[in-house]
Amino acid sequence: MTTTLITGANKGLGFETARRLIAAGHTVYVGSRDAERGLRAAERLGARPILLDVNDDDSVTAAAKTIAADGGLDVLVNNAGIETRTADNGVPGALETTADLLRPVFETNVLGMVRVTHAFLPLLLRSAAPVVVNVSSGLGSMAMVTDRDLPAYAYPGLGYPASKVAVNMITVQYAKAFPNMRINAVEPGYTATDLNGRTGTQTVEQGAEIIVRMAQVGPDGPTGGFFNAEGVLPW
Ligand SMILES: NC(=O)c1ccc[n+]([C@@H]2O[C@H](COP(=O)([O-])OP(=O)(O)OC[C@H]3O[C@@H](n4cnc5c(N)ncnc54)[C@H](OP(=O)(O)O)[C@@H]3O)[C@@H](O)[C@H]2O)c1
Repeated sequence: MTTTLITGANKGLGFETARRLIAAGHTVYVGSRDAERGLRAAERLGARPILLDVNDDDSVTAAAKTIAADGGLDVLVNNAGIETRTADNGVPGALETTADLLRPVFETNVLGMVRVTHAFLPLLLRSAAPVVVNVSSGLGSMAMVTDRDLPAYAYPGLGYPASKVAVNMITVQYAKAFPNMRINAVEPGYTATDLNGRTGTQTVEQGAEIIVRMAQVGPDGPTGGFFNAEGVLPW
C-alpha cells in the first residue's frame, strides 16, 4: 500500500490530486494549514487530515512525527503555493514589486517546500519506492518565459515566476542527491483555482493530470525532470 502526503490539499489542484490518488488505491494525507478546512476536505475525500503549515517549523515537525508513527511515507506531493495578486486580482509588475512583496511568495513556494521535504526525507528514505512531486509552473521555465510565442511571455510578475525557477533548481539538486528516489517538477497548466481568481482556462481535473501521473511513477521512471501533461518541458 502506498502512503502519500499532499501539502495544501484542502482545495484546488491538491484536493483533486488527493481524490484521484485515493481512487488509485493510495492512502492519502490531506495537508492543510487550517484544521477545520483540512478536516472537511478529508471527510469529503475519505482521506486522513493532517495539520501542516509549510511556513511553520513546529507544524511540519509534528506532521512528520504523526505520519512516522502511523507507518511512514512513500510519496510526497509539494503542492502548497501562493501567487502575489493585487486587490483586483491583477499581477503586480516590475514597477510595483518591492522586496517585501516578494517575501511571502518565496517563504511559501520555496522555503516551505524545502522545510517540508527536509522534514520528510528520513521517512522517504525508508520507503521501498520513494517519490517526490514538486508542483512548479511553466512560469518557472526560463525557456518558456522568454519565448515570445508562448502566453508565459506576457506574464508581468517577478515573485511567482522567480519562486518557481527556484523550485525547479531545488528539484534537480534533490534528484541528484537522492538517486534512488523519483523526484520531479511538474507544470499543471493554467487552471481555474482560487490562486488566480478562477481565471484559469483548464479544469482541476486537467490540471491535476500530470501531478497524479508523476505521483505514481515507478522506480524505473524519470527523475530530475520537468513535465506537463504533454511531456518534457524545457528549463
Ligand atoms: N492554478 C494554476 O493555474 C497553476 C498553474 C501552475 C502551477 N500551479 C501551482 O499549483 C499549486 C496548487 O495551486 P492551486 O492552483 O490549486 O491554488 P489554490 O486553490 O489556491 O490552492 C493552494 C493550496 O495551498 C495552500 N497553502 C497556501 N499557503 C500554505 C501554507 N503556508 N501552508 C500550507 N498550505 C498552504 C492553500 O491553503 P488555504 O486554503 O489555507 O489557503 C491551498 O490549499 C501551487 O503550487 C501553484 O503554484 C497552479
